[in-house]
Amino acid sequence: MAKLAPALLFALFAALTGVAAHAAEDPASQITRPAGYKPQPGDVALGEKLFNDIKLSTNGMSCASCHANHGAFQASFAKPYPHTVAMARDQLGRKTVYLDEMVQGCMVMPMAAKPLPWDSKELAALTAYTATLQKTFKPSR
Ligand code: HEC
Repeated sequence: MAKLAPALLFALFAALTGVAAHAAEDPASQITRPAGYKPQPGDVALGEKLFNDIKLSTNGMSCASCHANHGAFQASFAKPYPHTVAMARDQLGRKTVYLDEMVQGCMVMPMAAKPLPWDSKELAALTAYTATLQKTFKPSR
């Protein structure tokens, strides 16, 4: 159950929201760090707020809809970035991703939204907050 549920959930949302069609605009490059990109330190408290904010998506989801209590995270989440995330590899052909790229990946795939501006305090904040979740994450296998 724990292993299957996220994949099923995502497949369902992909089907319901036409994620595939949206991502087809320019899937991999939308989540790829632009040239000269320098990650900024982010505001963790703002990140937590955004993580629970359905306004970030176009489909009524927030990050927490799937990831509350470490939900939907697979064993890869325990590894230092960059690493392989199955969803980014399978849907976007990305062999490895950075954490901020994966935040963008969930913005464009399950959240069915546009990627956040790379220099935004929102992306920095979500990345910083997600990094705190990673610290307490223990894979189930
Ligand atoms: C509909 C469910 C859903 C929503 C909503 C969602 N995600 Fe995800 N997320 C997933 C799934 C499924 C994976 C991929 C797991 C895999 O392939 O290993 C994932 C993977 C991730 C990863 C990578 C984990 C790793 O293994 O390194 C991060 C980070 C992440 N999501 C952050 C977010 C953030 C931030 C948001 C909100 C902007 C968000 N997610 C919204 C389902 C969701």
